Parts: sequence; C-alpha cells; structure tokens
Amino acid sequence: MNGHSAIREQVADACHRIAAHGLVVTEAGNVSVRVGGHVVVTATNARFEELTADQVVVVDLDGERVHGDLEPTSELALHLGIYRHFGASAVVHTHAPMATAVGLVVDELPCVHYYMLKLGGSVRVAPYETYGTPELAQSVLTALEGRSAALMANHGAVTHAHSLDAAVDQALLLEWACTLYRNAASMGTPRALDEDRQRAVVETALARMATRPASLPEETS
Ligand code: 13P
Repeated sequence: MNGHSAIREQVADACHRIAAHGLVVTEAGNVSVRVGGHVVVTATNARFEELTADQVVVVDLDGERVHGDLEPTSELALHLGIYRHFGASAVVHTHAPMATAVGLVVDELPCVHYYMLKLGGSVRVAPYETYGTPELAQSVLTALEGRSAALMANHGAVTHAHSLDAAVDQALLLEWACTLYRNAASMGTPRALDEDRQRAVVETALARMATRPASLPEETS
C-alpha cells in the first residue's frame, strides 16, 4: 500500500507533539519515518501545529515521490542520508530554541548528564551549510557518526531513532540537555562526565536490561 495513510496520520501527530513543545515556529522542521523501501515524510513549507496527513508524502529511498501531490521537505537528502548511513527508522529535524542557541556558541555539547547517553553522549555541532543542500546533509551525517543527535550551526537540531515516538523523545531530550547546559554555564563551567563514568552508565543500563525491560540506552556510540 503506497499511501501509508495510518503512518501519515502518525507523522502528523508527531508534528503536533513537536509544535506543542515549542521546538518549531512557522514552517520550520521536518519529520520522516521509513517503512521498508519507502520514506513517509512531511511536505515542504508545512506548519507543524496544523499539519494534516495530506501534507505528508511518500518517497522511495532514491527520493522519487510515490504518493502525495506536494513536494517533500527541502531536507529530503538529509533524511535519506540518515536512513542510508545509520539504519534508522525515523528522523526529526527542528529549530528548537535552546538547541539552536547552544549550537551558536559551542562546537560540541559535552556529556553533562548521564541521560545524554541516550543520544550517544556528547552532541557535535555540524558546521553551517545552506539549508536543503547536499553539503548540509553531509555536514550533519558526519556530526552524527556514533550518535543519534546532532546540533546544526546557525540552524537547529536533528535526531534519529528506531521509531517515530523515540525520535521525537530524542528531540525533546536534546532540548532539555541544551537547556540544562545553558543554565549550568550561566553559573560556572559545567562538569562533563568523563569516559569511564559514561562507560559505567552504559554497562549498568545494559546489565539492568538483561534482567528487566527498563532501559537507559537509546543509541550509544
Ligand atoms: P521544509 O519546510 O522544506 O521542510 O524546510 C524547513 C526546514 O526546517 C529546513 O531546514
């Protein structure tokens, strides 16, 4: 079924959730889900708070449209690149205010909280490139190596995960981490977790997962 109507509704719901948390304004942001050989993705210039399933289109893994009348997001190359390189199932791109602010002043958000290990630890800032270009896609793919989140200089943030809900959760977690960092940096120099402490957290989470479903790691490097 090329229409993927239920998935397009889920993408619209995810966009509403992202907008309700204030991670986008006006036509900013794009969301996609991979379903086999198809990618179900928001159309360009869609407003998340009022986005409908009609504003979600379906493309194949080469970006050819297979369902929907509207043009897919201008960041399609970024979404397709993430599926190709990282085997993700969903991608969320926002202009979240604190993530964007932090990306204006640092090259890497240090791992200042153990929950950031869900994102792979520290979060790199992809050097600036013009929106919608292959250069931007490549810059972000490089920053995502070993991570499930990246900040985008003078632009925003991107996350990927094994499900749409998880990719939105990752975007919210990233915004929370950026807010935490900004608050701490306003009082002094934030202390980051060193590699030994990060490894200990991952080992503890994995050991706990072996005995019960509760987990920490989403994506770890
Ligand atoms: P689209 O409206 O084309 O998805 O672009 C929004 C955006 O955030 C570009 O980076």
